[in-house]
Amino acid sequence: MTDLQLGLTLSPPSGGKVLHTSNRATVIWGDCRDPQVIVSVPDGYGLLCTDPPYGISHRSNWAGRPEIAGDDGSIDWLTVLGEWAAPGGSHERGLANSRHAYIFGYNHHDIAQPLRCGATASLIWDKVLMNQGNLAAGWGTTHEPIAFGVHRKRPSDRASSRGGLAARLRKGSVLRYQRPNGNTRHPHEKPVPLLADLIESSTVRGDLVVDPCAGSGSTGVAAVLEGRRCFLVEVDQRSAELCVDRVQLAERLADQMSAA
Ligand SMILES: C[S@@+](CC[C@H](N)C(=O)[O-])C[C@H]1O[C@@H](n2cnc3c(N)ncnc32)[C@H](O)[C@@H]1O
Repeated sequence: MTDLQLGLTLSPPSGGKVLHTSNRATVIWGDCRDPQVIVSVPDGYGLLCTDPPYGISHRSNWAGRPEIAGDDGSIDWLTVLGEWAAPGGSHERGLANSRHAYIFGYNHHDIAQPLRCGATASLIWDKVLMNQGNLAAGWGTTHEPIAFGVHRKRPSDRASSRGGLAARLRKGSVLRYQRPNGNTRHPHEKPVPLLADLIESSTVRGDLVVDPCAGSGSTGVAAVLEGRRCFLVEVDQRSAELCVDRVQLAERLADQMSAA
């Protein structure tokens, strides 16, 4: 199936194209598997928070909606994200040592090895509203797993239980935030308050939050509104442009809040 049939615009230039850059945010239209895109993220960043395609050939129930790029099950997303955490297995580059990763749609056992994690935990996002899903099943899905891990560069450190920047206020593992409903801009748009909760729990003001599969840019919006910085990559041009629009709106709001 071609990109045209999918309704996606998937031809980013090699190395990606910077669509927006400011002191708060960078948005790149690019392929997060592209080594030139991976090297463009500053080393020692503060949080990897991303929602990769689910590998289940998602097809929206809504007419006219595009499918999701990279969703045909052919990409080993955890290996790709391992490169974002520690490019080339480096102990110096990528996500800073002892900082956190949140990967939507995965179990914590799955991320430990590829993302070089010490402590891990599985969070449950309670979406409140049921997905349509398989109507023959007696139970409708109202939740999604989010894998949490503490990135530890050295194997010897992974054996220790230290959490580095631990969640300052230890929280329960079920996060209840209503999923966007109705007028959503992307088939997998996540609620900004959910991402703000994750970001607030794992970073301090000014930290850089990285999302290599940014979709509509919810991670970036939450990061900017929380006084953090963001670095977003999205392969679909129209979604990447949507990220720019939403992040710029968040930047204006953050400017107004800091002036108030
Ligand atoms: C599950 S969605 C993310 C939704 C996002 N969390 C939001 O709130 O809008 C995954 C996104 O990854 C993007 N994607 C797929 N393959 C990619 C690649 N190789 N590089 C960058 N982005 C990619 C898809 O186009 C899709 O927008």
